[in-house]
Amino acid sequence: MDQSLPSHERLLQGLYRDYEARYPTSKAAHMRAREVLIDGVSHGARLFKPYPFRVTGADGAHVIDVDGHEMVDFWQGHYSNILGHNPAVIRDALVQELQHGLGLQTGLPEERQSEFAEALARATGAERVRLTTAGTLATMYAIMLARAHTGRRMVVKLAGGWHGSSPLALKGVGRRADGYDHVDSAGVPNTTNEEIIVVRFNEVQDLQAAFERYGERIACFIFEPCVGAAGFIPATGEFMRAARELTTQYGALLILDEVITAFRFCAAGVQRLYGVQADLTTFGKIIGGGMPLSAVAGRADVLELASESAPNRVWFNGGTFSAHPLALLAGKTMIEHLVAHEDEIYPELAAKGQRLREGVEAAFAGRGVLARCTGHGNDVVQGGSLATIYFPRQEDHYPRSAEDLQNPALCDVVLREQALKLGLLLHDVNVVHGLGALALSHEQEDLDQTFAACDAFARRLVAEG
Ligand SMILES: Cc1ncc(COP(=O)(O)O)c(C=O)c1O
Repeated sequence: MDQSLPSHERLLQGLYRDYEARYPTSKAAHMRAREVLIDGVSHGARLFKPYPFRVTGADGAHVIDVDGHEMVDFWQGHYSNILGHNPAVIRDALVQELQHGLGLQTGLPEERQSEFAEALARATGAERVRLTTAGTLATMYAIMLARAHTGRRMVVKLAGGWHGSSPLALKGVGRRADGYDHVDSAGVPNTTNEEIIVVRFNEVQDLQAAFERYGERIACFIFEPCVGAAGFIPATGEFMRAARELTTQYGALLILDEVITAFRFCAAGVQRLYGVQADLTTFGKIIGGGMPLSAVAGRADVLELASESAPNRVWFNGGTFSAHPLALLAGKTMIEHLVAHEDEIYPELAAKGQRLREGVEAAFAGRGVLARCTGHGNDVVQGGSLATIYFPRQEDHYPRSAEDLQNPALCDVVLREQALKLGLLLHDVNVVHGLGALALSHEQEDLDQTFAACDAFARRLVAEG
């Protein structure tokens, strides 16, 4: 790291000490977990220093940990729980199903599959739906379909774009000294590097240049309409239009990865707000209603390549647990609930998001700390329920891409990713990557608690740097 940038070492050491004092039972639980689980967890995003707290209960906006703290939670099931933790509408449906002797995997076709697929297709305008269990698998299968359909190999993706840990998209994810021009994981095929082209978000010229150079070889352009790693900054209308036009012009497929954004801004894919229809869309998170369910949906002629009768069949079988009955019921219940209450839910979430962003920014400003929130709207998408707090080095720095947010020369990444997390946890507020997702169940008192936690952290930051 650049020696001229503050390391916040003193602040961090103090935060570790105070966190350990406040979360002692979680420490013992973590030590035990490390004996059998790699790093004591099963997902890197759930690990942080000195150790993660362990949860025993979750309800609405809150989670309860083994030390008895009730925390305001903005992680919300990895952004899945748009209604909050364990909402009655889903829980009751699942309990009832189990009591009627259905629910666990049968591995046989059940009516629930068509019911769920119909609900998803109706809401999103997809012609066909194929199910699987994780966003990673959905994006992997979508890319395989695009390759089979076009007979081409190359994949264009965004710097910082995360599509799960599929070897077909594991390039240009995390920022390193070389920026995003690298393969992120060991153990992937040698071809990953040359077959994936990484472009900058919201830079139409960069995208155009990639298509001009590789056009005849590009199978698809896959991207998130609001890049998670860029703090949920939405694509500009211009970028979305260019993505649609260039893919069409060069005979490639447009894959919109809506694993985070679908049903987050409206009761459909966010592409509806852009007035764009992707060739394939990947879904996950919210569509499972808190259960492991994901899907690839879109053009019938492309998805038909997954058929047993397709001459160049894509082996898209989804896995043993694809179309799990309880997941389908949870997902259908969630989608139908969001569609039925769309006019109330999304304006309420957007208003809460606005209050959250304003309150957080005011709390830091009140202590003279330059901090802002992402998640504001743009020319197409209204500010919604996703946000990241960031600490720009310069007053006039407004991130437009993952690079703008993750480059330590432009934003204080250590402060956002490490210190802020612990500082807020000392006041029973859980954020990930600088904040996270609002659920409908967050109340004004939860926001007020968050503002007070930000104020306390800002005060400490000013005192201890
Ligand atoms: C945009 C996006 N795509 C794909 C994935 C992968 O989904 P999963 O973690 O369910 O495999 C994620 C996960 O966070 C995501 O945010």
